[in-house]
Amino acid sequence: MKVMVVGGGGREHAIIKALKKSSEITELYALPGNGGIAKDATCVNIGAKDLDGIVNFALENNVDYAVVAPDDPLVLGACDRLREKGISCFGPSKAAAQIEGSKVFSKNLMNKYGIPTAKAECFSDADKALEYVRSCPVPTVVKADGLALGKGVVIAETREEAVQAVKEMMLDNRFGDSGKNIIIEEFLTGPEVSVLAFTDGKTVFPMVSSMDHKRAKDNDEGLNTGGMGTVAPNPYYTSDMAERCMKEIFLPTIDAMNKEGCPFSGCLYFGLMLTPAGPKVIEYNCRFGDPETQVVLPLLESDLFTVMRAVSDGKLSECEVKFASKHACCVIQASKGYPGKYESGYEIKQVGEIDGEVYYAGAKITDGKLVSAGGRVLGVTCIGDTLGEAIEKAYAATKNIGFENAYFRKDIGARAMKAKV
Ligand code: AMP
Ligand code: GLY
Repeated sequence: MKVMVVGGGGREHAIIKALKKSSEITELYALPGNGGIAKDATCVNIGAKDLDGIVNFALENNVDYAVVAPDDPLVLGACDRLREKGISCFGPSKAAAQIEGSKVFSKNLMNKYGIPTAKAECFSDADKALEYVRSCPVPTVVKADGLALGKGVVIAETREEAVQAVKEMMLDNRFGDSGKNIIIEEFLTGPEVSVLAFTDGKTVFPMVSSMDHKRAKDNDEGLNTGGMGTVAPNPYYTSDMAERCMKEIFLPTIDAMNKEGCPFSGCLYFGLMLTPAGPKVIEYNCRFGDPETQVVLPLLESDLFTVMRAVSDGKLSECEVKFASKHACCVIQASKGYPGKYESGYEIKQVGEIDGEVYYAGAKITDGKLVSAGGRVLGVTCIGDTLGEAIEKAYAATKNIGFENAYFRKDIGARAMKAKV
């Protein structure tokens, strides 16, 4: 079968490497992919937001199955467009993708169906938002309604910062239409857990849990990034907690989406905070997480393509989904300066053996050489019998690949190692 994966980052590379193991797939395309992915799939220069290009490519090349990985095309309705043309695909409809595409939608959904989340107020009027923020307790959290490249969340420590955030979003249009509506919510505390779940709208199958490291620098300092590394499973997410989340969050969410007339099919990402008052939803994503996927899929023992088709056929309950009882650690190498200004074009060289997988994100081929071409450039994932072993292997492997101005955190997994549950 001919399969295409829409997207071009480390997450897509991990999906592609997992799909490659399926004997049923004869041809694998990445739209647009990247220079590193080119070793594992045929990269086609069509952008992930170019829905006409994506659909036409699928039709012209008799693509049998599509996996739409990033948020933008899902929120724009890529899966609806493909399904209209008879191409089956993994990913939610435009209506269901609102769960990520609009924070006002997801907050209203959680409140309506009693799904635990931070208390929040939604605003479409800047004056009202400013009036509220001038009297609400701090710290407080200001969120743009729409997609904002992961930058639409401001944790305001002071009232002045909160006022500033509201002004930037609603008056200065920093995020364009995404900031027309905003949410101001209570600041929660507790360990964060990412849970990706396969769901066909009837059955929900949570994958192994994971822990992201969002800040740029060691000890969780520095600016927020797209993610500097991950470990799986997340030690804070005990089996008792998993059971509780299933009952209080996962099943009620699937049910709520059905009742709202927009059943969710695909990978639903639950960004959870384990607060002293119980687990609460910080955010939903309508897709696999990046770089969570880079530690979760390497632990999947079942055939990913079989599971994906069970999801899109509405037959997940008939499918076995198994994960290895092991640990994984992914260390991301970024260009020095990321998430601020950085330089690209440095050759990526491997100098020794890697007992794991390399997933490329910002990489391209120039004059026959693989060079850095983005903020996050690559990630190395290693597996171990213990978390400590996975971390040690990932850092040993990280020494064997890189580029001149690479930057990586030295403490991925350190917090998980110290977890007292
Ligand atoms: P996001 O960009 O949506 O992934 O959010 C960035 C980060 O902001 C999350 O991973 C949390 O660490 C933090 N965050 C979001 N909402 C809250 C909240 N209500 N309380 C505390 N931290 C939050
Ligand atoms: N790692 C967070 C995300 O994928 O949004």
